[in-house]
Amino acid sequence: MANTILVGAQWGDEGKGKIIDVLTEEVDIVVRTQGGNNAGHTVFLGDTKYVLHLVPSGILRPRKRCVIGNGVVVDPVGLVEEIDVLEGQRVRVKGRLFISETAHLVLPYHRELDARREIRKGRQKIGTTKRGIGPAYGDKAARTGLRVIDLMHAERFAGQLRERVRENNAVLRAWGAKGLSFERVHAAYRAAGDRLRPLVANTMILLNDAIARGQSLLFEGAQGTFLDVDHGTYPYVTSSNTTAGGACTGSGVPPHRMDRVVGVMKAYTTRVGEGPLPTENPEIADLLHAMGREFGATTGRPRRCGWFDAVATRHACRVNGIDELAVTNVDGLDTLETIRVCIAYRAGRTRYDHVPSDAEVLAACEPVYAEFPGWRTPTQGARRWRELPVRAREYLQALAELSGAPLGIVSVGPARAQTIFR
Ligand code: IMP
Repeated sequence: MANTILVGAQWGDEGKGKIIDVLTEEVDIVVRTQGGNNAGHTVFLGDTKYVLHLVPSGILRPRKRCVIGNGVVVDPVGLVEEIDVLEGQRVRVKGRLFISETAHLVLPYHRELDARREIRKGRQKIGTTKRGIGPAYGDKAARTGLRVIDLMHAERFAGQLRERVRENNAVLRAWGAKGLSFERVHAAYRAAGDRLRPLVANTMILLNDAIARGQSLLFEGAQGTFLDVDHGTYPYVTSSNTTAGGACTGSGVPPHRMDRVVGVMKAYTTRVGEGPLPTENPEIADLLHAMGREFGATTGRPRRCGWFDAVATRHACRVNGIDELAVTNVDGLDTLETIRVCIAYRAGRTRYDHVPSDAEVLAACEPVYAEFPGWRTPTQGARRWRELPVRAREYLQALAELSGAPLGIVSVGPARAQTIFR
């Protein structure tokens, strides 16, 4: 059975949660490998809405196991709250969710530093989710991070935490913010650590043993290609590798065990936070927001919206090695007379067929558009490829060809049933 990496091919919020939920049927274990509770994956089952931040969405399928891998940054207090909500919705978590002992912790000073840095940056701010993600990964790289395994050792954790709170309070105070109380942080984290203890495991061994037994894995990417710290629109990115390679380093599963990469993209483009978005278009944003769509699952912020950007998705197909595309939110375009697709960029006299590496150059790029006639028919009821309007099929086929990977899945609404396999 195949091990699949699922990635976002745009700026996050591509509708990955729904596609992961659909693909979970075929696998035994769903694995998160990067990011933290900055992610928000929304899944509808019947009338119930589930929003997952750290827990892989596989938890909603009773017989599946889920792993939070070593590459994730874990806010243990937030995770306990998320588990409580899920258990309140009658989702069984114990015995099904495993947390890597080597995953790094997000601590309250990370959140404070995240918020303060944003204020200090003024107009250059990144527009983070303020979940402390950047500072937590910063500590990991600087080798000053605390890990889940530390939280499992009471004395060691207390000593390390006291030192880190002291150090970080000095920075916070220098920035005019209040310091944190070690006692308060310690009490909250110890309580969360005790709750999480039965779920903590060596997930590298768990996953490789599962593969050896013939089980199959689905790697649930969070955020999207252009938020990747190496391959995205730096510095307007998150702090992890959101591209396919991150699934290996973030789980301890080697590259040659991966069988396919599925790239999820919307039929248009969105972005939350600051940074370049060449096809941004206020009319599309107004249309989608008026439909009640495109508000962030984690922060509730209205997302910036624009036309489909095939230069960007071509880049995503290349850097992730996408074997198959899943296109979501097709129904969001149902009412449009004409639909535009960006096929190249122009900055001055230079034409770009690839995404320039410099975010400032990208910000100066104007899109070169191709136009497609709209289908002006509701698509939410379609259940098969041939039930989609001809013009919608032509549009989707063009997106796949321009992006450079075959079309595998089309989503025309939030429900599991509103999924078409090509
Ligand atoms: P951070 O990950 O909170 O540091 O935010 C960095 C950038 O990534 C900001 O532009 C966020 O809006 C964006 N971002 C982080 N997580 C998500 C996500 O799950 N979906 C979409 N954008 C995200």
